[in-house]
Amino acid sequence: MKIFNQPYRFIAQYLFICLVITSTKSQQSQYKYFNYTESTLGAPPLVADIKTYDDGTLLVHILRNDSTQSTADCLNIQGMSLEQKLYMRIIHLNGSVKEINPNLNLHSVNYCLLNSDNTEYKINKPNNFVTYLKETQNNNTNILHNIINPISIYPLQKPFILVTYVNTTNSSNITAYEEWAAVVDWNGNILSTMHLGAWMNSTIKLNINKKLGFLRFDSNQSYWSWTQYSIDDSGNLVSGDKTQINTTDSMTLYRYSNSPITIISTVDNGYIIVTVESDNSDSLLPRGGLHAFFISYNNTWTSYINYIGADIYQISQPNMTISSIYCDTTDIYIMCIVFVNSNITMDYSYVSIIFDSSGVVLSSKVISDLPNVTGLSQQSWSAKILPFGGFILGLTAYNYIDNNTYHYIYAYDVNNSQILLNSSGPFRTNYFGANSVTNNNTFLLASPYATDNISWSLLTIPVPTGNINNKDFGYDNTLIKQTIPSNNSIVNSSTTTLNITFIYKIALSTGYITFYKASDNSIRQRISATMQEFCKIDGYTVSIKIINNTFNEHGEQYFVTMDSNFVRRVQTNEPLKGIHDGIWILKSDNFDNRIIYSDAIMGSVRLTTDASKSFFKCNHLAYIEYIDILLKKFADKVPIHRSRLSTNYRFQKANGQIAIPIRINMARNKTERSSSKVFSDLNNMIAYKNITTFSSGMTNDLDQDYGYELIAIYTIYRGIKDSFINEIYKKNLILIAILTIILAPIDYEFLTILKYAPIFPIFTKRRDGYEQINRFNMYEDIFEAPTRFGAIVDIFMNILQIFIQVSKYIIVMSQVMFIKNIKVSRH
Ligand SMILES: *[C@@H]1O[C@H](CO)[C@@H](O)[C@H](O)[C@H]1NC(C)=O
Ligand SMILES: *[C@@H]1O[C@H](CO)[C@@H](O)[C@H](O)[C@H]1NC(C)=O
Ligand SMILES: *[C@@H]1O[C@H](CO)[C@@H](O)[C@H](O)[C@H]1NC(C)=O
Ligand SMILES: *[C@@H]1O[C@H](CO)[C@@H](O)[C@H](O)[C@H]1NC(C)=O
Ligand SMILES: *[C@@H]1O[C@H](CO)[C@@H](O)[C@H](O)[C@H]1NC(C)=O
Ligand SMILES: *[C@@H]1O[C@H](CO)[C@@H](O)[C@H](O)[C@H]1NC(C)=O
Ligand SMILES: *[C@@H]1O[C@H](CO)[C@@H](O)[C@H](O)[C@H]1NC(C)=O
Ligand SMILES: *[C@@H]1O[C@H](CO)[C@@H](O)[C@H](O)[C@H]1NC(C)=O
Ligand SMILES: *[C@@H]1O[C@H](CO)[C@@H](O)[C@H](O)[C@H]1NC(C)=O
Ligand SMILES: *[C@@H]1O[C@H](CO)[C@@H](O)[C@H](O)[C@H]1NC(C)=O
Ligand SMILES: *[C@@H]1O[C@H](CO)[C@@H](O)[C@H](O)[C@H]1NC(C)=O
Ligand SMILES: *[C@@H]1O[C@H](CO)[C@@H](O)[C@H](O)[C@H]1NC(C)=O
Repeated sequence: MKIFNQPYRFIAQYLFICLVITSTKSQQSQYKYFNYTESTLGAPPLVADIKTYDDGTLLVHILRNDSTQSTADCLNIQGMSLEQKLYMRIIHLNGSVKEINPNLNLHSVNYCLLNSDNTEYKINKPNNFVTYLKETQNNNTNILHNIINPISIYPLQKPFILVTYVNTTNSSNITAYEEWAAVVDWNGNILSTMHLGAWMNSTIKLNINKKLGFLRFDSNQSYWSWTQYSIDDSGNLVSGDKTQINTTDSMTLYRYSNSPITIISTVDNGYIIVTVESDNSDSLLPRGGLHAFFISYNNTWTSYINYIGADIYQISQPNMTISSIYCDTTDIYIMCIVFVNSNITMDYSYVSIIFDSSGVVLSSKVISDLPNVTGLSQQSWSAKILPFGGFILGLTAYNYIDNNTYHYIYAYDVNNSQILLNSSGPFRTNYFGANSVTNNNTFLLASPYATDNISWSLLTIPVPTGNINNKDFGYDNTLIKQTIPSNNSIVNSSTTTLNITFIYKIALSTGYITFYKASDNSIRQRISATMQEFCKIDGYTVSIKIINNTFNEHGEQYFVTMDSNFVRRVQTNEPLKGIHDGIWILKSDNFDNRIIYSDAIMGSVRLTTDASKSFFKCNHLAYIEYIDILLKKFADKVPIHRSRLSTNYRFQKANGQIAIPIRINMARNKTERSSSKVFSDLNNMIAYKNITTFSSGMTNDLDQDYGYELIAIYTIYRGIKDSFINEIYKKNLILIAILTIILAPIDYEFLTILKYAPIFPIFTKRRDGYEQINRFNMYEDIFEAPTRFGAIVDIFMNILQIFIQVSKYIIVMSQVMFIKNIKVSRH
């Protein structure tokens, strides 16, 4: 999540006379603690970092400060030794905790906290700062300095964690440290590792869409370089092309040595690099300020010339410099808080800047309503941008009397006015004062370890939205007013549209809306904003057409995600934030068991011309294997139990294309989807393969214009309880079977006079260019016993061929008609 990657550089100010903390711990009954007891004994666990997945699942980095394990490597660089283990904790939404302690075999220097203020080992790692107070008074070893943890952890798409660490052959030479990355899953499996480059001076920023990986930026005096990385579904790190541009004279204007640098992820999946311009101390030239460079997603710069970027802030007084910046994307616009000060006059101010994703500045205001906290000895301020608008100023303070560390928080709205919180603190915190803001505007603060020495806790403080016009309706996005179906509502395969209403007038942009199945994360439908046939805008609302196989299982849960930049605001053209993964949940209802027929379907699929060509290069065994794998893929993707799909492998060739016959056998029980519905699902998934998982892998070989073509439908009626026919038939199963088989294709009317048999809408249209479709019917009550033993399937197999020959009717179910009509109209 974006919040956490911002520079953690704290500003140390010594504005107040050292006094004793007199305030007592206030009662914060409204605020809640989350407490967890570690499963293993050892040194007290310390929360060093807190990050969040898109759905609110937390990722916590735990350290154990074990000075008895001091290593020579760590002593060499004057660091602080930790226990030589990587501890990560997942806090699930239901409050359960998963311990992840992967064994990455890291160099021991990774378990050593470095002091960034150490002049000998000056380190430029803005997003690795874990805290804290500058110690000026004495050499109090209880107080950590601006420390750097060589290990950083980042939440990628679930269930992956990115761990970055250092690798070196000479632990005393920090400039020679190399940065590496590993992808670890929630079971602690190490899925991939990769060398990234020099560790010093690099910064990593996750994309706003965690599936799109991250950007790694690196610079020194002679170049800037960056690379975009992504993580595939198996957890492999994939590196994009590296862009490296030599610094030029004009560039050094934009960034002087060691000045803070911040990277922002933008709603259009790109990044903005914010640099501090130097102050030339010449009243005729522009003074220092902030400059933004734009890097679009998956795009490389070729030369600096084309990327002038935009000035987003100019310092108004001379001899002032910017010593820290905190920026992040909010629901609408980007906000930065900068600390401007003069080391000559000791003047300082905090300024909030709001700008849009193209660099147009909307406001830039000094924060005048600063909290007046007195009586604290050591103070260090930081800022955090709130996702719903506004920001937090946080203060960490050390108390020399009780030797505790305290944290205060002050929330502000978009106009720099303070928002009243139930309490601003002081809240006791640990060494690191680790804190973060979740996607739902909740502030989290690490508490010191409990007295039992094996527990840790997080304090959660909900913060009101800093944009009074906006309200969160549960989508972690205050721009969304309503959705239909609403969050947590029931859907089924007849749910045909999805509406999302924004607070602004919107237009389509470029992202995707994706429907996932919760149980296995498989994609059910994926629509791009550029697919006009599926997306419609009506003022404030976007409507998405849902194909009816999307929610085709009963008792399932589905997630709907909307990429940022799926829509734009009409008035400003600004891309708008979407809906994160795991937020919008839909549940499918149980099947309607009143539908008491079941059926079997014979049909065929056709390979595309290209796929047919390669198919022909195979030998007979390979054909069979190909078809078997294809059926397996159908079973997984539709989904349907594999045993319900069968084929005789007798494919046909026409016009250079292969058609493969496939039968869908009847449902094995009443909770399974009937074959006619599976038929419709399969046909849809092929016909619309570009928006379903059929577009990937072998299923992409299928011809979408052909779909799943019907050859025959067999309907087996159930529940003809009182029918006289029933009585008669029960006496002689075979006779009735034969009778039915003979009657079905010829005397179709026979079926409709059975009043107990539910007949779904039937069309008896003759259509040119179609194979004739046959239908015959069985009465399942009669055949219940043989059905169980599979006998009825055998009857089908044997008689199938005959009826394909004799029938004169084309009887297509409504769904079938619907699909074919769409296909025809698309041509
Ligand atoms: C949870 O932790 C907090 C802070 O460490 C402590 O004040 C509180 O009593 C703990 N609650 C429980 C139930 O252990
Ligand atoms: C906000 O998210 C956190 C977890 O990320 C969760 O514990 C909390 O209940 C959420 N709050 C609201 C108001 O949804
Ligand atoms: C450290 O670097 C060496 C040599 O490049 C490599 O073989 C090893 O796997 C790396 N170690 C880790 C933990 O990545
Ligand atoms: C702090 O320690 C350093 C060496 O570690 C020493 O040079 C310095 O004088 C000490 N400062 C104080 C105030 O004791
Ligand atoms: C440290 O490593 C850097 C980069 O590899 C090298 O240029 C430098 O000479 C090394 N310094 C020492 C003291 O070994
Ligand atoms: C890190 O950045 C500083 C300042 O730009 C530069 O002097 C130093 O050489 C850089 N170090 C490395 C290893 O790139
Ligand atoms: C960048 O500088 C290096 C060495 O100074 C040089 O070899 C390279 O050609 C330069 N690249 C560009 C694109 O100017
Ligand atoms: C990124 O760019 C490469 C080459 O330009 C392209 O092949 C790839 O599909 C792009 N990826 C995405 C996700 O757009
Ligand atoms: C800025 O600083 C320079 C030297 O540090 C000093 O000469 C100059 O007067 C200062 N300007 C102002 C306006 O304070
Ligand atoms: C003030 O800051 C500038 C630039 O960071 C530095 O060159 C100068 O030495 C500082 N002056 C004092 C008095 O610290
Ligand atoms: C801060 O508070 C103290 C006492 O509470 C007061 O004397 C002082 O004037 C205040 N400062 C500001 C800037 O409001
Ligand atoms: C705080 O630390 C100092 C020095 O480390 C020590 O002398 C003092 O007794 C400690 N106070 C408490 C309350 O533990």
